[in-house]
Amino acid sequence: MAHTTRRAFMVQSTALTAAMLVPGGGRAQSGLPVLRAMPATAQLAPQGYPGTEVWAYGISGPGTVPGPEIRVTAGDAVRYRLQNDLPQATAVHWHGIRIDNAMDGAAPLTQPAVAPGDHFDYDFVVPDPGTYWYHSHNRSFEQVARGLSGPLIVEDTTPWAGKAGAAARDLTLVLDDWLLNSDATIVEDRWDDLHAAAHAGRLGNTVTVNGAAWPEFSLRPAERIRLRLINTATARVMSLALPELGARLIAVDGYPVTPRSAETLVLAPAQRADVIIDAPATAEQRGALLLDPGNGEWVDIAGFLTKGDAVTATTADLLALPAWPAWQNPDLVQPQNESLVMEGGAMRGLEKATYQGRTMDFRELVSHGMAWTFNGTAHGMAEPMFTARQGRTVRMKIENRTRFAHAVHLHGHHFQVLTDPHRDVRDTVLIGPDQSAEIAFVADNPGKWMIHCHMLGHQVSGMMGWFSVA
Ligand code: C2O
Ligand code: CU
Repeated sequence: MAHTTRRAFMVQSTALTAAMLVPGGGRAQSGLPVLRAMPATAQLAPQGYPGTEVWAYGISGPGTVPGPEIRVTAGDAVRYRLQNDLPQATAVHWHGIRIDNAMDGAAPLTQPAVAPGDHFDYDFVVPDPGTYWYHSHNRSFEQVARGLSGPLIVEDTTPWAGKAGAAARDLTLVLDDWLLNSDATIVEDRWDDLHAAAHAGRLGNTVTVNGAAWPEFSLRPAERIRLRLINTATARVMSLALPELGARLIAVDGYPVTPRSAETLVLAPAQRADVIIDAPATAEQRGALLLDPGNGEWVDIAGFLTKGDAVTATTADLLALPAWPAWQNPDLVQPQNESLVMEGGAMRGLEKATYQGRTMDFRELVSHGMAWTFNGTAHGMAEPMFTARQGRTVRMKIENRTRFAHAVHLHGHHFQVLTDPHRDVRDTVLIGPDQSAEIAFVADNPGKWMIHCHMLGHQVSGMMGWFSVA
């Protein structure tokens, strides 16, 4: 009896506390809607397996994996109070948004991480349309792997959808990769596994699409759909295929491209691809999104099934997305030249490197959890890698002198990849082992901006720095 009473009381007081945290049904006293980071349960493994305890974002309900889709129009403000109901400090980064530096969420560079029980108000304008995402940026190798990410979709000011040759609707597909035990719990004891970090990172064993194993999406026959693919995995480079759906790429990392075939595509961690598919013309036809787990044997990770009455097929040519109104091409005449040399990792190693202002040998670096360097320095946060005057074009050569691929991400800016045959404009570029790339961008956004590998185990074990625009 006493037990029952106590239990009932605890349930009730929990409910009360939750109500107090979100007065007025999801709004903080400041009037901002609340984005809560909290423990939650998600059915990641196939039906029949138990649910997985995750950390997740919720806006007016429990946390979900992926987090709730935030959808706004270019030029709009995104305003949320982050309420931290996790047992760890956290911060939210709005990946790929050319944002006001103070709102970048890049703890500890642009804000201190928000302590458990505390909150932080994010309020910023999104300048460019496209497919983005938000994710934790504190202990992100752990927090993102536990589920703290969600899609952020920015619509064009004049809607593209519905025009002749465009897609009638879009479908966001968040791709993730989880390291689960056989009882579907997250593998907990290897967050600081330097062995994995010195290789390809913490690769998972369960790939989910929108938080589920092998979901099936229905398409109307002959319907043209825009898929917004987002790779939120912390390590896995995803080789994808969309056979027999006429897949064409229309944007990378939010930035429009001249449409081109996307029957196969590679998405590094943090990268996005907007892909148009045309559904088969008759009902009960199946299509699939395939992934190569690394052994050349493609597996289905999501299915598409045509259902219902056919729509009138578009006869118009695929309509390209409109250019970003606020984009300025880099001026390559007399750029500020910078270089980024990446070294370290397994099968190459580091003889010595600078860490926290001291030169250390390999053993000492490892004892500090460091395995990689940018320009000879591991995790160099004491000073910027370079400073650019606001408005200046920076041209950067990035050399990967390691045996692993890296996904280099710059905060606050998109850049043109000069060595890419299509000269794509991105915020995250994948550079293969012993490859190099050149990028250029107008440093038009003042502040302190992180630059790091988006394989988050590489980031925490050394592939991290920042630059300043002043
Ligand atoms: Cu997607 Cu530094 O982040
Ligand atoms: Cu890396």
